[in-house]
Amino acid sequence: MSQKVQAVIVRAKDAPVETVTIIIPEPAAGEAVVDILTCGVCHTDLHYKLGGIGNDYPYLLGHEATGVVSKIGEGVSNVAVGDRVILNWRAVCGQCRACAKGTPQYCFNTANASQKMTLEDGTELSPALGIGAFAEKTLVAAGQCTKVDEDVDAAAVGLLGCGVMAGIGAAINTGEVKRGESVAVIGCGGVGIAAIAGAKLAGATTIVAVDIDDDKLAMATKMGATHTVNSKTSDAVEGIKAVTGGFGADVVIEAVGRPETYKQAFYARDLAGRVVLVGVPTPEMKLELPLLDIFGHGGSLKSSWYGDCLPSRDFPMLVEQYKLGRLDLDAFVSERIGLGDIEAAFTKMGEGKVLRSVVEL
Ligand code: APR
Ligand code: ZN
Ligand code: ZN
Repeated sequence: MSQKVQAVIVRAKDAPVETVTIIIPEPAAGEAVVDILTCGVCHTDLHYKLGGIGNDYPYLLGHEATGVVSKIGEGVSNVAVGDRVILNWRAVCGQCRACAKGTPQYCFNTANASQKMTLEDGTELSPALGIGAFAEKTLVAAGQCTKVDEDVDAAAVGLLGCGVMAGIGAAINTGEVKRGESVAVIGCGGVGIAAIAGAKLAGATTIVAVDIDDDKLAMATKMGATHTVNSKTSDAVEGIKAVTGGFGADVVIEAVGRPETYKQAFYARDLAGRVVLVGVPTPEMKLELPLLDIFGHGGSLKSSWYGDCLPSRDFPMLVEQYKLGRLDLDAFVSERIGLGDIEAAFTKMGEGKVLRSVVEL
């Protein structure tokens, strides 16, 4: 039997969000219905609303969620009814060229539910990142569910479903930060702060935070940065070199997404340093660099998409680190709100006032 639940959608480009009744179909083979406990408000949800991602309105927003599996379709074996899960947008196929090459983080056949959730009049919804979790229940592919322990704060661990994972993964997966290394993080929003937490978790001993906002730098220090540079008032590259013996950092993580900060990241790397690009540029942005500065200095430039995470590997491990007190996910939860407060949360996000607003259902 299909079920009717409350959910938050956006009907047209830049329209205000609305709480409406939606219909969740019975799960087909390989699908699961998840009763949502918490869902973080991410920049990507705002981009859907503003028309930056597509034109497939109405969108069912929300994608950074924890829930409990309440129904499963035929053939589902990775989760069972009653399991606490974190949702993900990287349910890899295991068969495409990327998966066959051993790089499933670039899988281009990631699974979503095959059926559509709808409005009461039958209008099909497009779920944000194939999830749609600003809702009492949502329908996903079972592979989008990763079982995790129940004895933890759902709001905190649910953030691993998107932005926090992107930052931590930029450090531990893409950057492969090792014990005793130096790491610089340029841009200390939610993603950059998570990269700092990831660098600390990996055992980095020098962690330099760079931002143009002193409040962000204060937060960075709280989360493990050992040094800070305000790049509005001083030079980012010189500031990073000054605290790394004059050389630059072993790993530099760019978490802004602008040409000038990409360039700073490039020049702030030590010999053979790794530059990790997690900030997303716009299509028209370009960067020009002297080839000799690439050639003569060694190292690598790597992009990081969703922190190069594999949810079934990374989510349970990071929940365990949280339980052991080594990863402060609580610090990312700035406020707990209801389904009706999402528009206000978007405004606060724009003002840079919160790391994460988290909807509790
Ligand atoms: N130099 C240094 N820091 C900067 C600069 C700059 N020129 N411009 C902006 N910043 C800082 C802001 O002060 C803010 O702290 O970068 C941070 C950006 O944070 P958010 O806007 O909260 O963005 P966040 O969610 O962290 O995402 C950062 O990563 O995944 C991508 O799409 C995401 O491109 C975005 C980036
Ligand atoms: Zn694949
Ligand atoms: Zn997101």
